[in-house]
Formats: sequence, C-alpha cells, structure tokens
Amino acid sequence: GEWAYTEKLKEHFESPKNILQGNDTSEFDGVGMEGNLQCGDQMMVVIKVDKETEKINDCQWKTYGCASAIASTSVLSEMVKGMTLEEAFAVSPKDVTKELGGLPENKIHCSVLGDKALRAAINDYYTRNGMEDRVKKEQAKTICQCMSITDHDIEEAVLEGARSY
Ligand code: FES
Repeated sequence: GEWAYTEKLKEHFESPKNILQGNDTSEFDGVGMEGNLQCGDQMMVVIKVDKETEKINDCQWKTYGCASAIASTSVLSEMVKGMTLEEAFAVSPKDVTKELGGLPENKIHCSVLGDKALRAAINDYYTRNGMEDRVKKEQAKTICQCMSITDHDIEEAVLEGARSY
C-alpha cells in the first residue's frame, strides 16, 4: 500500500531536530509539559530566550508520542527559532502541518501536542520573569465529538471515583 505520510514527515521522523538530551532542563528559560487527551502521549518543550529581544534562541523537545508527534514537533522547533515569544505563541498546528506538507486527518491531534507544550513553555517563561499578565490560558475545547467516549467509559470512570473514597 501507499504511505499516508509525506517525504518531509518521514525525514523529520527519521532524523528529528533539536531533541532534548537527558532530563536536565535547568539551563532553559521556559519548560512546558503537555499530555494528549486523545492518545495519552506526553510532550516536553523547552526554550532559551534572549531577554532583550524576547527571541527564542533555542527550542528543544522530547516526547513519548508517535511518529507524527515527533515529525511535527521537529518541524515546529526549527520554525520557532529566531521568532519572538509572541510570534511563536501564535504558531498553529495548521502552520506546522502545512510545513510538513500535510498530515492524515486522524493524526492532527499529534501536531497539537508540541504546539501546546511550546505555549506552556512560553507561559512558564512569562511566569518566571514576573510577567504573569502575559500568560494566556488555553481555550477550552469540546472533546466529546472526537473522543468517542461511550456511556460505559463514563460509568467506569464514575466507578473508579467511587472506589477511591
Ligand atoms: Fe499520540 Fe500521535 S498518537 S501523539
């Protein structure tokens, strides 16, 4: 059969750029962690920021996500280097998938992961530097349409909750 993935995606999956080595994030100016509601995968994005210009000097990341998450975050990390914090905050999963040459519909949520973690890292930078007023919260999104939660899932969750009392 045919792969549903573009050449660019394969490139970035096979040799991802800017992977964070090890677990030491102390030399970074902002750290963002996100979990993906749809698949449970996790992502960490860290940034170094030039305090004068507010430009991102370095953006590294690490994920336990899938190939699409790896490729899209690799592309994202390249895109945002040299951007100001405001510019980087405005980068959308659409911009990233465009750069990748497309992503299968059911993998779009994977590109959202790096994106969200980046914004969390930027917010972390603002918080650390006394600019809480610039922190922007993620907008609440409807999840019920795409998560195919069944009544059984909900019953299970309720039971789980009941058991922990
Ligand atoms: Fe979880 Fe892609 S399936 S990030």
